[in-house]
Parts: sequence; C-alpha cells; structure tokens
Amino acid sequence: MFFKQLPAQESSLSYFFGCAGHAMAAAVDVVAGDEEWFVQQAAQAGVRITCVIDTHVHADHVSGGRALAQRVGAPYCLHESARNFVKFDFKALTDGQLIDLGNVQIKVMHTPGHTVDSMCLLVSDTRRGPEPWFAITGDTLFVGAVGRPDLAGREREMAAQLHDSLHGKLLTLPAELEIYPGHQAGSACGAGLSGKPSSTIGFEKRWNPMLALDRDAFVAELTHTIIPRPANMDQIVAANIAA
Ligand SMILES: [Fe+2]
Repeated sequence: MFFKQLPAQESSLSYFFGCAGHAMAAAVDVVAGDEEWFVQQAAQAGVRITCVIDTHVHADHVSGGRALAQRVGAPYCLHESARNFVKFDFKALTDGQLIDLGNVQIKVMHTPGHTVDSMCLLVSDTRRGPEPWFAITGDTLFVGAVGRPDLAGREREMAAQLHDSLHGKLLTLPAELEIYPGHQAGSACGAGLSGKPSSTIGFEKRWNPMLALDRDAFVAELTHTIIPRPANMDQIVAANIAA
C-alpha cells in the first residue's frame, strides 16, 4: 500500500493510493488543475490509475476527476444517487461495493447528509487482513467538525440524515481507524474544521463537539448558524454536473 494526501484549493484534501505490487491506484477528490500531479505521481510509482472517485458532487470547487479519468482511461466514479442530477455517464458505486486495486481494497459506504450522494471510502490492505486501515470521509466527517447539510436545501432533513450516517455507520467502526477528510480549516463545506488533516474515529468521538449531540440537538446546532455558501457555488455545481 502506498498513500498520499494532497492539500489543494479551497482547503480541499485529495488522495492518491493503491498497490505498488499490482501497479494499480485510485485518485479521490481531484481538484481541477491538479490532474498533472496525479499523472506524475502515478508515473513515479510505476502504477496505473484504475479508478477516479469523487466522494460527492462538489459545490465549492470544480472537480478534476472527470478530466483525469478521461486522460488516463479510467472510470470516473460517483455514488449511484448522483444519477438523479448528473448529466453525463459515470460509473455508479453502490453502498457496500468493493473496488480492488491489487492488494488494496476500497469498500464504499454511502453516508448521505452533507449531500445525498456523499460516500466514505474504507480502505484495506488485504495482505494484512480484511479490516480497513483508514477511511476517506469526504465531507461527512471532518477533524473537529461535520459537513454542512444545507447546500441543496432541506437542511433539517439532511442534517438528520447526516446524524444517522455518522452514528449508524461511520462511528460504528473501530476507534483506532484513521480518518482522512475532504477538507481542512478554511473550507466553506463546514464550520469549525481543524487545520490538522487527519484524525481517528476514537479521537473524534472524544473531541468533536458535534458527535456528542443527540439527533435533535445535532439538527438544531447544525442548522442554527448557516455559514456563507461557497463563492460561485451555482456555477461550480453546474460545471461538475454538465454533460
Ligand atoms: Fe462538499
């Protein structure tokens, strides 16, 4: 297993990981303009990029995922629910789906709340065992914060879904599991994010103030103060779903 985190525009965090032995890699949450970095990393590691995934359709930055996928001849992947609003063909991922990258395996976990199509990716090294080594949590769980629920409206309903995704799914994973979020401090996709770019499930359970709240309190807190929307959000979303 190799693994790299790339700090990108809009306080985004992108990921490149895979199996050197089988020369296969995944690129996750690629920001437009960073495609060349992934191509160079793949060349240096001597691997092929065999899948490109966005954890959700982004509203704060133009994705480079589709362009990178086309450039390297890999499928561009989103959660299947994005079919309801994305205007081009993509590889639709389903909850529980496994993606093999040689000895590295990704398990898809659908975690709606920030958006309807939000996913977390649980990544294992199958030579060590089936349990995940880390989770890429997108905009579902940040270090010290959670994703905002309001970008597509229905914020109380979405906040409740986010609570269910967190407590029913993500937080049931082992305390020692590392988490790698989609953003760090400075992002418009949540409020109160730390500038530290990784954490663990256990540390967040202990220190993330949102995770101690019951469902009603969580919904009230998350919808109480809505931070400004990402600049140019409507144009960014339009670019990310355009045919
Ligand atoms: Fe987001």
